[in-house]
Amino acid sequence: MKNEQLFDHLAENYDSAETRYLSKVASTAIRKVLGETEKQTAMDFGCGTGLVGLELIDSFRSIHFIDASHKMIAQVESKIKDRRLTNATTHCVDLELDNQLSSHADVIFMSLVLHHISDRQKVVTKLFDLLNAGGELIIIDINKEESDKAELKHRHHNTIDKNELIDLLTDIGFSISETSSILVDEEIMKKSIKSLFIIKATK
Ligand SMILES: C[S@@+](CC[C@H](N)C(=O)[O-])C[C@H]1O[C@@H](n2cnc3c(N)ncnc32)[C@H](O)[C@@H]1O
Repeated sequence: MKNEQLFDHLAENYDSAETRYLSKVASTAIRKVLGETEKQTAMDFGCGTGLVGLELIDSFRSIHFIDASHKMIAQVESKIKDRRLTNATTHCVDLELDNQLSSHADVIFMSLVLHHISDRQKVVTKLFDLLNAGGELIIIDINKEESDKAELKHRHHNTIDKNELIDLLTDIGFSISETSSILVDEEIMKKSIKSLFIIKATK
């Protein structure tokens, strides 16, 4: 099943105790590595139902929510409407295809997205181009040893080697300003994920 079809299929029931918990872990970790953001614009790339970006909405001047799945974007739009947010916009685009985005941002964050992307060089290069000078790309994903587990393979997860990703980011032109591991509550995650990594890369 293609990513877009898979996430269209998952969208309506995507928000669960596990995904809400993981999005809290991700947004807390992102907030910790962010500098002064009051006047900054952000993109939540691969936003899903917006769980992470909506946690961070008060930290930025505005957030642009981007996802390849129309049904995920419909979920974000409904939350934006319900909360009457005026600093949130959405765009449905698959950056792995040749679709382009015209908007730029000071910060782009992506939580649990990169392991779904086959051509990481292509997508991360596009994200580099979308960042303003001095902008930051923040990536949160599953530590490599985690994604080798059978349950995760079953959930369509691929492996990301953090060191290979750091090399890729550096080759594209980023400098790495932060990298660490985050332990997650295995009970809440039903032993499916033990730890995540966070990388902050500056243009
Ligand atoms: C596991 S979900 C994570 C959602 C959200 N970031 C979170 O942490 O709750 C991955 C999301 O990435 C999106 N995605 C995957 N590949 C993409 C691409 N090439 N361009 C845009 N979005 C993509 C999927 O549609 C899906 O909504």
